[in-house]
Amino acid sequence: MNINILAIESSCDETSAAVVINGKVVNNIIATQQIHEKYGGVVPELASRAHQQNIVPVVQQALFDANISKRALHAVAFTKGPGLLGSLLVGASFAKSLAQALEIPLIEVHHMQAHVLSHFIEDPKPNLPYLCLTASGGHTQIIQANNYLDMQILGETKDDAVGEAFDKAAKLLGLPYPGGPMVDKIAREGNPQAFKLPDTEVPGLDFSFSGIKTAFLYLLRDKQRETPDFIKNNLADLCASIQDKLIRMLLDKLEAASLQTGIKEIGIAGGVSANSKLREELKTMGAKNGWKIYTPSLQYCTDNAAMVAIAAHFKYKEGRFSSLDISPTPRYRL
Ligand code: KG4
Ligand code: ZN
Repeated sequence: MNINILAIESSCDETSAAVVINGKVVNNIIATQQIHEKYGGVVPELASRAHQQNIVPVVQQALFDANISKRALHAVAFTKGPGLLGSLLVGASFAKSLAQALEIPLIEVHHMQAHVLSHFIEDPKPNLPYLCLTASGGHTQIIQANNYLDMQILGETKDDAVGEAFDKAAKLLGLPYPGGPMVDKIAREGNPQAFKLPDTEVPGLDFSFSGIKTAFLYLLRDKQRETPDFIKNNLADLCASIQDKLIRMLLDKLEAASLQTGIKEIGIAGGVSANSKLREELKTMGAKNGWKIYTPSLQYCTDNAAMVAIAAHFKYKEGRFSSLDISPTPRYRL
């Protein structure tokens, strides 16, 4: 018998639905909310309203695309958290209602666990145990996955997430939200050594990005004072320098985690894993250390329901279902 699961992701500003059949993700429909761009960041109230508008068409599209009727579903999955409460509520309520109406199991999925499992959507898949750096707008963690559903956080950020650092640096440079992809693009023309940014000492495998953001702010403020066109004249070098610093901080800790655990199966996930320089540098570091590295396709790096679907498939096989009185958890530890 086939196992057909519909998965919904609505933790932040992407409304997404995907269908997974027998562990094979057949589609990944994403409605990106453009409305936040003019505000320079995600506005929670607007995000939940947009999810409310998008959820039905996105789910219908996913089912239509997969050529599957609602009646053929065996379970409905949704992101329980972490994320924005209003956004999570839209996906959770929709999934619960559908599960109840169809009298099929409901499956809750942890958003960060789903990012880690994005490596199991396509080949090649990591061998377990593997280490995954999850770097997004809300999180920066090094996770050891011992099994599909058994994961342990080895290190994490003590303040800002690295995606947030990218976005804040971009904002200081006058770039539109979300700034990460813009910094990535513009940095290709710049010199990463042009501006030195201070080192941040954080013990163990943890991270801290708030100091670097402040240092960048002071650098821009002082230089702009001397030369009003400083940012405009040095945009590519500034993007390359801040990007290089952030990537170095990520990779140094990932290397330390591999040394500490002896694990050489290494993956990156989350929105920042779409960064072209990070992918390139990871390859170089991997070659040096004899790692096998795994980078998801770009559509599975940023928020998507395909990763929720694959996580739900593993949970379905273990019979890990949720009760219908469940509610989202905006701050949700792995
Ligand atoms: O995983 P994600 O889509 O949403 C969260 O769960 O946060 O990650 C979004 C973050 C944003 O901060 C965005 O700027 C960053 O990922 N991002 C990038 C790139 N693409 C997305 N950062 C650097 N370079 C990129 N190419
Ligand atoms: Zn995410």
